[in-house]
Amino acid sequence: MNGLLTRQARPDDAEAIVGILNPIVEAGVFTVFDTPFTVEAERAYLEAFPARGVFLVAVRESDGVLIGFQSMEPFAGYTRAFDHVGVLGTYVAEGCRRQGVATQLFRATFAAALEKGYEKVFTYVRADNAAALRTYLRQGFRVVGTAERHARVGGRYIDEIVIEKTLTHG
Ligand SMILES: CC(C)(COP(=O)(O)OP(=O)(O)OC[C@H]1O[C@@H](n2cnc3c(N)ncnc32)[C@H](O)[C@@H]1OP(=O)(O)O)[C@@H](O)C(=O)NCCC(=O)NCCS
Repeated sequence: MNGLLTRQARPDDAEAIVGILNPIVEAGVFTVFDTPFTVEAERAYLEAFPARGVFLVAVRESDGVLIGFQSMEPFAGYTRAFDHVGVLGTYVAEGCRRQGVATQLFRATFAAALEKGYEKVFTYVRADNAAALRTYLRQGFRVVGTAERHARVGGRYIDEIVIEKTLTHG
């Protein structure tokens, strides 16, 4: 998309982020998040976001509206063994999809992740979320496998597809 800038998320972005995320949660078909987020909780989350994480927002330059975001956190905090692995989530506002917003976020997140010493990105996609799987595969992710009946949302079991990508410079 032309006229889109990516920048680090700030606590003041909480309201706009929740405005994108909650309709996605409420739709019940894209994510395993099952409870809408409050602005206060999102603000607290952003304030406490780990320094080694990457949390970028995509802002339309023409009107300053935040239309997407991508966050990457260290895979685990209980050991140093996973320090080179980040876990990713990607969300674009309904009505702004299929215009390259996620593509631009991926580019910026991968660059920031490499700078922070990450070597690998890892995440999970609901097996019934074909759009997200295609988006990630397009970015060079590969399927590790399927975790069966891994999530239960709204009383229904859902498989999760585990995906990963090795980060490379250039
Ligand atoms: C998945 C999501 C982040 C993609 O964001 P986006 O900004 O629409 O993605 P892009 O426009 O950058 O798409 C890049 C490519 O991914 C693929 N893709 C994206 N959406 C697709 C769809 N609905 N169907 C098929 N392929 C799709 C295409 O190859 C696309 O390239 P093209 O448009 O040139 O064909 C967005 O659909 C979204 O926020 N969905 C709801 C939340 C969600 O499912 N998040 C993932 C949780 S793991």
